[in-house]
Amino acid sequence: MSAPWTEAVSADPFHLAWFLNGFKVQTWDSPFAGPGGRHLNSPDLYIDLARSLERAGFDYILLEDSSFVPDGYQGSMEAYLKNAWMVPKGDPSVLASLLTQFTIRLGVIPTLSTSEYQPYMLARLVATLDQVSQGRSGWNMVTGSSDLAARNYGRDGLPPHAERYERADEFASAVFQLWDSWAPDAVVEDRAAGVYVDHAKVRTVDFEGKFFKTRGPLNVPRSPQDRPVTVQAGGSPAGRNFAGKWADTIIGYVKTPEEMREYREYVRDRAVAHGRRAQDVKVLFLIDVTVAETDEDAKRADEAARSAALADPAEELAMMGFTTNLDFSRLDLDRPVNEQSAHLVTNGHKSVLDQFVARAGDRTLREVLTEPATPVLVGSPDTVAAQMDEYMQHVEGDGFLFTQNNLTRRSFATITDGLVPALQRRGLVRREYSHPTFRENLFEF
Ligand SMILES: Cc1cc2nc3c(=O)[nH]c(=O)nc-3n(C[C@H](O)[C@H](O)[C@H](O)COP(=O)(O)O)c2cc1C
Repeated sequence: MSAPWTEAVSADPFHLAWFLNGFKVQTWDSPFAGPGGRHLNSPDLYIDLARSLERAGFDYILLEDSSFVPDGYQGSMEAYLKNAWMVPKGDPSVLASLLTQFTIRLGVIPTLSTSEYQPYMLARLVATLDQVSQGRSGWNMVTGSSDLAARNYGRDGLPPHAERYERADEFASAVFQLWDSWAPDAVVEDRAAGVYVDHAKVRTVDFEGKFFKTRGPLNVPRSPQDRPVTVQAGGSPAGRNFAGKWADTIIGYVKTPEEMREYREYVRDRAVAHGRRAQDVKVLFLIDVTVAETDEDAKRADEAARSAALADPAEELAMMGFTTNLDFSRLDLDRPVNEQSAHLVTNGHKSVLDQFVARAGDRTLREVLTEPATPVLVGSPDTVAAQMDEYMQHVEGDGFLFTQNNLTRRSFATITDGLVPALQRRGLVRREYSHPTFRENLFEF
């Protein structure tokens, strides 16, 4: 009989990434929280996570971010502060920089908003992160989706959705030009000739748009991976078009295999429309995974988590308030969502809310509130590995993103030390990295 690891399947491997719900207190009062309340000033949990992801061959960790204290539940900041829901939350670029020093191959991507930064400042920050990580940094290109955040940065509220993407497009163009303002061979470090940088290989960009103006050049050399890796998550048509134009990898936030396939085809088409190749964008899909020793154990854990959320929907309501800028506590939990849809209009996470309303139909808010918006996979490592294989065979690429609420060392180990070895035994994901840089590994297959 052959050893289990020789049962390799012929399929192309797919990519894995982790969507970290912010540099925040993940859980401080649950049984396996450990010293969870100290995660901001003692970020060992994240270092352990990053090292485990690297051991498991993940392409990247993405650090979600928002920079405001939410008050979208019962019109108050109380619930968020009291429970540590999305606050306190530290700056992701500080954590990103730390994580690069504890890993050697993992891609590390902070979220940085085009509504909060200036192009030069952002291009420089990410380029610097790319230098200190030897080519493993990236940028999650978000347009901003909170009025409260906008008000922290000198505005009265968010610009309209379409204008945000127009600004973001210009912003990305300026950032890419700044990243390209040094030729790859500009640093010559020629002691004999007394030349460190060949000045003829560094040029100004003289960018002048409707919203931004920047002269350049950047004062940081060209990226060791040519350019930092860009990520995008917005799912509206404008968001998908923006992703097709600028993103190297995309977070797919949809539910069914058909929607996944359609999403991927759509953004790949948009990439081609913008003069890129379809394979220049890697679409990774968020999934909701519960893995345990046996299928029964996993089902039990999943059901327990869902019934706890159903019994006390406050956190789910508060999270909807956080993402949509709408106070869901003002809605009737036991009335059909489509009867209340007049109140469900946002300038914030538009596609997230639209998908929620469409999925809900005539079901009550209570019924749909705890239902994940992404595929749910529950079982032993082998069961879930087989399900992921089936999804990818249908969608044809390019991989998955995991995310966990109430993240603990115990919870991420179920993925990195349980599920991933099962995927590796099936030949579905890499066993080791082939290249030093993030970009090379992401585009290897
Ligand atoms: C899965 C997912 C993750 C996101 N992560 C962030 C984030 O970390 N920070 C942020 O400001 N916006 C985030 N966004 C918001 C998007 O970047 C975008 O601004 C928002 O979804 C509105 O665009 P859309 O209508 O095209 O979806 C996320 C969106 C999705 C769907």
